[in-house]
Amino acid sequence: MKKIILDVDTGSDDAIAIMTAVLSPELDVLGICTVNGNRCVENTTENTLRVVEYIGSNVPVYKGCALPMVVSLTKGRRECVPFEGQKNKKEDVHGDYLPIPESTITYEKECAVSWLVKTLMDSDGDISLIDVGPLTNLAMAMRIQPGIIDKIDTLYIMGGGWREQNITPAAEFNFWIDPEAAKIVINSGCKIVMVPLDATHAGAISIKDAMELREESSPGAKLTAALIEQRLKGYNNWQPMQDQTTVPIHDALAVCAAIDMDVLADVRYIHVDVDAGGGICDGQSVCDVEHKDKEAEPNVHIALNANVGRFAELLKTTLKRTV
Ligand code: BDR
Ligand code: CA
Repeated sequence: MKKIILDVDTGSDDAIAIMTAVLSPELDVLGICTVNGNRCVENTTENTLRVVEYIGSNVPVYKGCALPMVVSLTKGRRECVPFEGQKNKKEDVHGDYLPIPESTITYEKECAVSWLVKTLMDSDGDISLIDVGPLTNLAMAMRIQPGIIDKIDTLYIMGGGWREQNITPAAEFNFWIDPEAAKIVINSGCKIVMVPLDATHAGAISIKDAMELREESSPGAKLTAALIEQRLKGYNNWQPMQDQTTVPIHDALAVCAAIDMDVLADVRYIHVDVDAGGGICDGQSVCDVEHKDKEAEPNVHIALNANVGRFAELLKTTLKRTV
């Protein structure tokens, strides 16, 4: 089994990602870190605990950063009341809380960032990270202890976009929420597999798959079916896909890539950087697909497409399982 740590801002697609990771026979989830993003960290942590308890898992949950590193310090750069900032556009896609019972379990006492530093430093370099929210926790950990960079086996990131964006004309949501964190992590030197919007939109899952999952008895399958339906409504209001019977489940694609890279397609090894300048391109991932900058070394394996058939199959097989 591949040892992994998840970093999430749960969220409907994060919830599906968590269930996929925990239920996969290929992955050994050591812990789940939460962060501000889709909702404030109180909500994303409660949602994470709900999912973990709902599927009967005992994976520990560590509460992480409540605010991005610095973006909210500059007046006017971001309306960065993390909760209010996204309320209008994204409430249908995620809701404030997941539609499952309130948690009765609690998160660990240690904060996510210090747990991450300790766990990676004590490891033999055999832990991979799957980060599907803003990269605040990991960037903080890298600043506190740069030694962790060489300890990360592979870092899978859901974030950024080459030709696809979703929160501003230039930026994807996770990178936009904390551009400095994204810049630190992308330029850190660790082995990165980036799963941007180009791949997650190409890997949009159909409502037919949700119907199939609804027929299954496992809690993971049932909740996923409900969340896909919720997401489909939200996306069709907010950002419809070309085929309006399909919807991206961004974060689950990054988890599936850690299980089987064949869910991704057109993977290139290129130079990526992140704009954190505070202007209209704030949070943009600048992906040098055509190798325009001859000086810049490749630093990211980026997927520009997805193998949606393989992704849907892997998702369905995994979510039918129980703990
Ligand atoms: C990302 O933004 C969040 O809303 C999703 O959970 C995903 O991680 C997609 O841009
Ligand atoms: Ca997310």
